[in-house]
Amino acid sequence: MQTRELGTTGLKGSALCLGTMTWGEQNTEAEAHEQLDYALSKGINFIDTAELYPVPPKADTQGRTETYIGNWMQARKNRDKVILATKVVGRTEMDWFRGEEGRLSRKHILEAVEGSLKRLQTDVIDLYQMHWPDRSTNYFGQLGYTHHPKDSAIALEESLGAMQELITAGKVRHVGLSNETPWGLMRCLHLAETQGLPRVASVQNPYSLLNRTYEIGLAEASIRERCGLLAYSPLAFGVLSGKYLNGAKPPKGRLTLFSRFQRYNNPKADAATMRYVALAKQHGLDPAQMALAYVTTRPFVTSNIIGATTMEQLASNIASIDVKLPPELLTAIDAIQEDIPNPCP
Ligand SMILES: NC(=O)c1ccc[n+]([C@@H]2O[C@H](COP(=O)([O-])OP(=O)(O)OC[C@H]3O[C@@H](n4cnc5c(N)ncnc54)[C@H](OP(=O)(O)O)[C@@H]3O)[C@@H](O)[C@H]2O)c1
Repeated sequence: MQTRELGTTGLKGSALCLGTMTWGEQNTEAEAHEQLDYALSKGINFIDTAELYPVPPKADTQGRTETYIGNWMQARKNRDKVILATKVVGRTEMDWFRGEEGRLSRKHILEAVEGSLKRLQTDVIDLYQMHWPDRSTNYFGQLGYTHHPKDSAIALEESLGAMQELITAGKVRHVGLSNETPWGLMRCLHLAETQGLPRVASVQNPYSLLNRTYEIGLAEASIRERCGLLAYSPLAFGVLSGKYLNGAKPPKGRLTLFSRFQRYNNPKADAATMRYVALAKQHGLDPAQMALAYVTTRPFVTSNIIGATTMEQLASNIASIDVKLPPELLTAIDAIQEDIPNPCP
């Protein structure tokens, strides 16, 4: 397994990171532990979770995923073998998260971290990410930006200041962003340079063959500023495997089970997926592995966060690390993107 430096932190994380958001909903604790054991045996040392998980988010399941990971590290006594990333929720209408006053305020962050540390049964989080911006901006599939001058956002200075307190207290090692925009990333880096606030180490945003919007503004910033992408939903929720094509509804598939997850399900996505699947087959590749290899090999990507609900999926997804994409295949991928750009932004 290749490793790559997480920003300028000196930490070396595996090029594939293990996503966890199905654990506690689609996957049991035993299945989560089996996935963790297998991933670790294949050289994955990077785990991504969140106080929000599992998904879909619910008051009565919230925190289960972190608890499963905490129990696993406790049982295996292997906390020092993994880079542990988790997240604090941003401004939210989910009222089980500390209410309207919370958000990414100092108070909210200092409270949230205690819950995560307890569930994870650890003293320190390696990468503490802000799950989405507190301010009103465009993320989670929203392309256009509408400015709300009266928006009462928590200042980035306050959020980063709280993160600095956690670093000083030894509860957090590094800070990351998620669902961020170019403005948010550059602003945070500026604040680190000018105000001694922590330098963010990564941006966790969606990136896949069906959503290459990261390339527009953030890819350059990731490379020039050494603050790489932790790519989430690299299979566009499983769509890029081709299993939903022609109206198919695999009974255990996320999009079949949860009607709220339709972000990756639309006629343009179907048309593009049809072409990516055909292209993979033409090159003797598994479509999901081709899609994952594409993400992993982009120069602005620090780690590709894979997700799986079965061991077969996990084994195949991890094996994608050895898949080579020849130049003519990359050219053909770009041609599809040009015809059907970002059908699932
Ligand atoms: N920061 C954020 O806002 C954010 C948002 C989303 C995700 N994430 C992180 O990124 C991780 C990965 O995201 P994701 O789960 O959306 O990734 P994804 O790769 O787009 O989707 C993974 C899902 O696709 C299906 N699948 C996986 N491998 C497959 C294969 N080889 N063949 C067919 N189907 C396959 C499985 O679902 P089914 O079996 O149900 O079909 C699996 O759960 C999450 O666990 C989380 O850690 C972060």
